[in-house]
Amino acid sequence: MRCLPVPPDGPIPPPGTPLALRVPLAVRDGSAPTTHSVGVLRGPSGAAPPSLVSPGVARDPYPVFRVLRESFPLVRDELLGAWLVSRYADVCGALGQDGLVAVPPGRTLAHMEGDTHRAHRALVEPALRGRAVAALAAGASRTAYVLARRIAARPETDLVAEFCQWLPTAAVTAALGLPYEDTARVQQWCRGGLTHLGGHHHELDACLRPHLARRRARPGGDLLSVLCTAEVDGRPLSDEAVSGLVGSLLGGGGEATALAFASFLANLLDDPRQLALVRERHELIPAAWAESLRRDPPAPVVLRRAVRPVTVAGATLPAGTVVACLVGAAGRDPDRFAHPDRYDILRADPGRLAFGAGRHSCPGAELAARTAEYGLRALLDALPGLRWAPGFRPAPRGLLTRGPRILLVRPR
Ligand code: HEM
Repeated sequence: MRCLPVPPDGPIPPPGTPLALRVPLAVRDGSAPTTHSVGVLRGPSGAAPPSLVSPGVARDPYPVFRVLRESFPLVRDELLGAWLVSRYADVCGALGQDGLVAVPPGRTLAHMEGDTHRAHRALVEPALRGRAVAALAAGASRTAYVLARRIAARPETDLVAEFCQWLPTAAVTAALGLPYEDTARVQQWCRGGLTHLGGHHHELDACLRPHLARRRARPGGDLLSVLCTAEVDGRPLSDEAVSGLVGSLLGGGGEATALAFASFLANLLDDPRQLALVRERHELIPAAWAESLRRDPPAPVVLRRAVRPVTVAGATLPAGTVVACLVGAAGRDPDRFAHPDRYDILRADPGRLAFGAGRHSCPGAELAARTAEYGLRALLDALPGLRWAPGFRPAPRGLLTRGPRILLVRPR
């Protein structure tokens, strides 16, 4: 079975003509092409669909997301080597579907399937929910106040380097029960590519080895001890398996939350009226955080590989296909959200698609929300005059991971 190039390769209808486009998607050896409806082409100019790897897209992907959502809801991006899905309902459906796993191959939760995934996930989830998270968040709150007070003494500072990158990593390091001193090392790995999908595992393995040996001999109450003493199918997890899980927790917890928090601060600092409202009413912080994740998710493009034929946006894609779920495009779908480009902390239902959907949806959502809430509270309390440094404008960038890399502010 092989994929064929996708629309538009037939005659283009006049602009404005709604058309149910039917294109060949897959050919089985010796058989006729199977055709599937892949959506509606509206007002096309005859131009080829845009590619996510075109120049400038990583700086601002939102204009391209809009074109894809409006005119090419399911389309093959030849340069990227993936099918792009961009409408809210289709992205939810794709992420919620079994049979799509993370790329490139790896050993984290996001790469596992079926019962193996269920068993490993059940080990991690309880430590990232409810009372367990409340206990962790208290530690995150203390760290946030220490960091915020340090910043308060400076005339000008970069909130990303001095705050956003430290706090989430410290929260997950604490959840695992690793020493606080390891936070700096983890942070460096995050900058070098440690994400939800692991990466840098040799260094991580070496760093973890003595901790694993100690936890196996004398388990404590932390998440690392839970993983070291857990059994799946009657057998303890290998050091490699524990390391893979720890990698996805540190990477996900560190990088994704740091970028999301940086975008959250940028959205608030860009709108002094809404910032003042949150200052006055701290109970609005969770909604303001959720709205920022909708508008500016830290993982706007989630790549998945089909391990069997899957249905995406109404079409069947064969095993081996790579699907790019455009969470960033879906979060600004006007069919789902009114005035989708606007950051509005009073929006009734910003959803939670930034954390994915279905069995692989992010287990760290609650920890991330608590970390962000305590982080913002600490900054608002310690920095009453917080505002942009003169002339500074945030410049988010990135596609697989996205957010501003510098936030220059005046704390007083
Ligand atoms: C704002 C912060 C975060 C965002 C936006 C985020 C986003 C995501 C997304 C989009 C996925 C893929 C979901 C899917 O395939 O449907 C994911 C998976 C995952 N996240 Fe996060 N994440 C965040 C924070 C965290 C934290 C704090 C942790 C851990 C402490 C974490 C651990 C994980 C893990 C382990 C997975 C893989 C789950 C699985 O495959 O079953 N994430 N996250």
